[in-house]
Amino acid sequence: MHDLSRATPWTAAREVGGSEALYQSLAEELDALLRGETDPVANAANAAAAIYHSLAGLNWAGFYFLRGEELVLGPFQGQPACVRIPLGKGVCGTAAAERRSVLVPDVHAFPGHIACDVSSRSELVVPLLIQDGLAEDRLLGVLDLDSPVTGRFDAADQAGCEALAAIVVRHLAPR
Ligand code: SME
Repeated sequence: MHDLSRATPWTAAREVGGSEALYQSLAEELDALLRGETDPVANAANAAAAIYHSLAGLNWAGFYFLRGEELVLGPFQGQPACVRIPLGKGVCGTAAAERRSVLVPDVHAFPGHIACDVSSRSELVVPLLIQDGLAEDRLLGVLDLDSPVTGRFDAADQAGCEALAAIVVRHLAPR
């Protein structure tokens, strides 16, 4: 479980070296934060807050969860957002339908982008996949990050956020 007497790790994470080191540090802190709690809403809420306050230049960070054939808004930090996104629609629905991360350097160049916050310029969406080694990976939802800066996210952010998503999945759907 997270040790509340420690210095706030989410601000400390910004001070470590390059993005690989930042994501490594954030992954460890996130795992510690969520460990020991099994409530999925509590863990998704803390994960959204930890990510939002650790990565510079975000205006939105949070989750959409798969409910039937659509994604429904989960815990997040940022402006109020659209609640339901059909699979295949927008950046989130595309990442969910195709079960792959979608990195959008310029949201205005992405056909069908859903503008929840007009200040968003770039976006990174990572699917939350349960990999149990059986049939197809099971889709839980997506992690969505928005930035008011065009081109805010690169391949290192994608790899880092995929690692964070895997940690979140472990703590949302413990085996
Ligand atoms: N832009 C997203 C919608 C969700 S908000 O950004 C929070 C999309 O196109 O799916």
